[in-house]
Amino acid sequence: MLKLKHITLSAFEIINDSGTILIDPFVSLNAQYNYRNSKNISDIFVTHGHYDHVGQTVEIAKNTGADVTAIVDVAAYFQTLGVKKVHPVGIGSWLNYDWGRCIFLPAIHTCTLPNGASGGVAASILFEINGVRIFHAGDTSLTVEFKGINEVYHPDVALLPIGGIYGMDIEHAVIAAKWLGVKMIVPMHYYLPPVIDVDPRDFAKKFEETDVKCVILDNENDELLLK
Ligand code: NI
Repeated sequence: MLKLKHITLSAFEIINDSGTILIDPFVSLNAQYNYRNSKNISDIFVTHGHYDHVGQTVEIAKNTGADVTAIVDVAAYFQTLGVKKVHPVGIGSWLNYDWGRCIFLPAIHTCTLPNGASGGVAASILFEINGVRIFHAGDTSLTVEFKGINEVYHPDVALLPIGGIYGMDIEHAVIAAKWLGVKMIVPMHYYLPPVIDVDPRDFAKKFEETDVKCVILDNENDELLLK
């Protein structure tokens, strides 16, 4: 079993046989969401240090005992705030877990931490669970890295920012989907008041009459069954 749930912005749950993985948990933006209702949050992944991706990582990690994995500079920030099980990593190698493996990959973006310090480089993350490869693009511009990620990793599903201003807008995310070679995409990062308010249906329309399936996970109970 493998399910994907969009909480808000770039925050997702990947629900697998052994528990729940949280990515970029800025969950305070979704008043309906309560992480205490999620089954065994084993891991939290953070793509970069911006407040809207770090979100409630510290609180959730402390209250659930979840492990936190992030680029070394962002990981060090979590350690200074008292998070115990932190895994500092870099970009470019497979990382193994009970539920599968993942790899941090490049993103073109800045990475200032909530305290104003540098968070190093921003990342995207590709997960491989039960034979399914899920690519979370983080915040990024369109980058030719996507062509290499397609060639080397063959992602099945891509979670792509479409809100513009800080990263890709709809026009660029459409090209990203093509370069990544994915057959399924989930838009993200399209509602961040007061700056970003983009309708994901305008993105989905771009894939009508193509063989790419665009899935909008907008409601609290929406889940995408991947396996
Ligand atoms: Ni950002």
